[in-house]
Amino acid sequence: MNSLKLPANPKFSSGPCSKIPNWEASFLNNAILGRSHRSPICVSRIQELISETKSILKIPKDYEVAIVGGSDTGAFEMAMWSLLGEKGIDILAWDAFGRDWVTDVVDQLQIKNTNLIDADYGFLPDLRKVNFNNDVIFTWNGTTAGVKVPNGDWIRDDRKGLTLCDATSAVLAMDIAWDKLDVTTFSWQKVLGGEAQHGILVLSPRAIKRLEEYKPTWPIPKLFRLANKGKFQSKIFQGSTINTPSMLCIEDALNSLKWVKSIGGLYEMIKRSKSNLDVIEEWVKKTNWVAFLANDIESRSSTSICLKIKDPWFLDKDIAEQKNIIKSFFSILEEKEAAYDINHYPSAPLGIRIWGGGTIEQSNIKLLLPWLDWAWSNLSKV
Ligand SMILES: Cc1ncc(COP(=O)(O)O)c(C=O)c1O
Repeated sequence: MNSLKLPANPKFSSGPCSKIPNWEASFLNNAILGRSHRSPICVSRIQELISETKSILKIPKDYEVAIVGGSDTGAFEMAMWSLLGEKGIDILAWDAFGRDWVTDVVDQLQIKNTNLIDADYGFLPDLRKVNFNNDVIFTWNGTTAGVKVPNGDWIRDDRKGLTLCDATSAVLAMDIAWDKLDVTTFSWQKVLGGEAQHGILVLSPRAIKRLEEYKPTWPIPKLFRLANKGKFQSKIFQGSTINTPSMLCIEDALNSLKWVKSIGGLYEMIKRSKSNLDVIEEWVKKTNWVAFLANDIESRSSTSICLKIKDPWFLDKDIAEQKNIIKSFFSILEEKEAAYDINHYPSAPLGIRIWGGGTIEQSNIKLLLPWLDWAWSNLSKV
């Protein structure tokens, strides 16, 4: 037993992430259900979501935004299948998701002229090695490593290739350099606390030009088809989705964006995330059993905040024992309703991952941290 106060919301998962504060199902009462998604009323609701997304995220006016199937993965694979193959590829990878895109490019699409620039968990690869005559693929924030690119300054304005960026755990929490990105994808289930299975695809004019001028040699399934006979399918970006969307999820995303607006918009969301990281940074400084997995402060993520264990008692155990120890640490926290889902990603180094995106209240992070100390000290006595 202890006298610690519980976080009002113990949900700190890195996806699906905590919904907006005080979310309730009645927020969806205005959803247009049981109507064709091609009906004017549904199309205009989808268009409203697209235009709110553009405006709140400050996406350039000449970029196009679509709602697609398959969440962030669907959006990113759709872009890769539709655009790659014309040029060589530089692909950066420093976490599990970045490596998934390497598998797509090398094993599935089998693009020969591919240059992998990678790094171990905790490190960012050497961004100076990137050749911008090639297409360049990267994640803005490696969610499973807690390592992000610090900004877009390393991306050349005069690039010849396209930049394809999986920004799902960065959008609405980090300043995205839109002018440096030709393809950007994300899903509502992350920083917006929205529902899964819908992805957002953002294309620059250069990406659209590629779609019109280049046809990949491999087959493109209907779900991925952004161009038809050399013509960009602009309708998809104006509310006519490729296949049937969930109007319930659309309502939820719209409602979350309204909340973002109500608290002050994009920069307030970035501030909230940064201040969640600040609290954890202060705690890590005075805590002798954890350290950041991210090696460099500049690339430390404020959304997927990953910590490794540095307690010698733990490090002296073999890996199987470490796994059992950390599992019971998470179980205690879940049982006490102090923290759900703060475990490391399965293929990432053992440790703690706390979501710090804008839907997380700083007050709850503050209440969580003493629980982590308590649970760890309980374990250490075993
Ligand atoms: C960087 C990154 N890419 C892709 C994904 C997959 O996202 P989704 O399940 O929305 O497709 C995730 C999920 O955590 C992620 O963090």
